[in-house]
Amino acid sequence: MYGMYGRSFLTLLDYSPDEIRALLDLAADLKAKKKNRLPHRLCEGKNIALVFEKTSTRTRCAFEVAAADLSMHPTYLDPKSSQMGKKESIADTARVLGRMYDGIEYRGFGQQIVEALARYAGVPVWNGLTNEFHPTQILADMLTIREHLGSCAGKKLVYFGDARYNMGNSLMVGCAKLGMHFTACAPKEYFPDAALIEKCRAIAAETGATLTFETDPEKAVADADIFYTDVWVSMGEPAEVWEERIHALLPYQVNEKLMDLAPRALFMHCLPSFHDLGTEIGREMHERFGLTAMEVTDGVFESDRSIVFDEAENRMHTIKAVMAATLCED
Ligand code: CP
Ligand code: NVA
Repeated sequence: MYGMYGRSFLTLLDYSPDEIRALLDLAADLKAKKKNRLPHRLCEGKNIALVFEKTSTRTRCAFEVAAADLSMHPTYLDPKSSQMGKKESIADTARVLGRMYDGIEYRGFGQQIVEALARYAGVPVWNGLTNEFHPTQILADMLTIREHLGSCAGKKLVYFGDARYNMGNSLMVGCAKLGMHFTACAPKEYFPDAALIEKCRAIAAETGATLTFETDPEKAVADADIFYTDVWVSMGEPAEVWEERIHALLPYQVNEKLMDLAPRALFMHCLPSFHDLGTEIGREMHERFGLTAMEVTDGVFESDRSIVFDEAENRMHTIKAVMAATLCED
């Protein structure tokens, strides 16, 4: 569909602004069909493999429900039970899966792994999160912003926290592609990689987007439409880094005081989130450092300005659009 048939979806850098908007339109259309109970079995009889080397709630469920709605059969390979990487190379795994499946989702570590899968599989490969990028999350976020604010272009999104990792990187790319104003607010060492900033600046010059990097939260918040944050320690990072992250990033916590500085800003988070003591890690950090919340306070998370569960739902509609566009010829 829309010239995307047979393509992989590894990073938004590979998709033009028009293609991203087409995916969002398709997602909105499929969402309306689902709400109206209109069948959309666009991929009848196809099979997909869902390879997860890291854990997941939203992404796995989104792929499985979307596959069922499109009339496809998914096979889930969990972080431990396949041969991939340990007994079989990525290239060999890709060629085996590509003989059996019409598409492959991969969640794991380095971006080079999902790229190798795509090079060898011969079928579309979709990035369900790597250390560097989380592109299906960004589609969900952009659909959510469109639903709440009417459009993405011209809106200002401020990302607080570890902006060097998958969410900071991918939001910067997505904002550049869609003509948004992206601000990363963090200590300097947590800003995205200089080469990626350079690439995004070139995209922004074409789309009217702007990119800014700010260490002072009070300066970053001016005219913000969206505050976005993510966990301070990502999957696959060693537990020992919690202490240094808490010290470095606590001044960038999204709390009521920060929200008060930007009266129209909505709150977004890819989830999962440490906003209370309802998690093992949250309770451990409470015992060690006395914190009751980390990257966002419970008051902000539970407030009317928080649209995090709209984002979570939109994971399914946008992932469905990516699969339909890359698996259907027209
Ligand atoms: N946001 C997100 O990717 O969530 P999961 O880790 O639960 O898939
Ligand atoms: N940065 C987080 C995102 C989770 C959706 C992680 O990689 O764990």
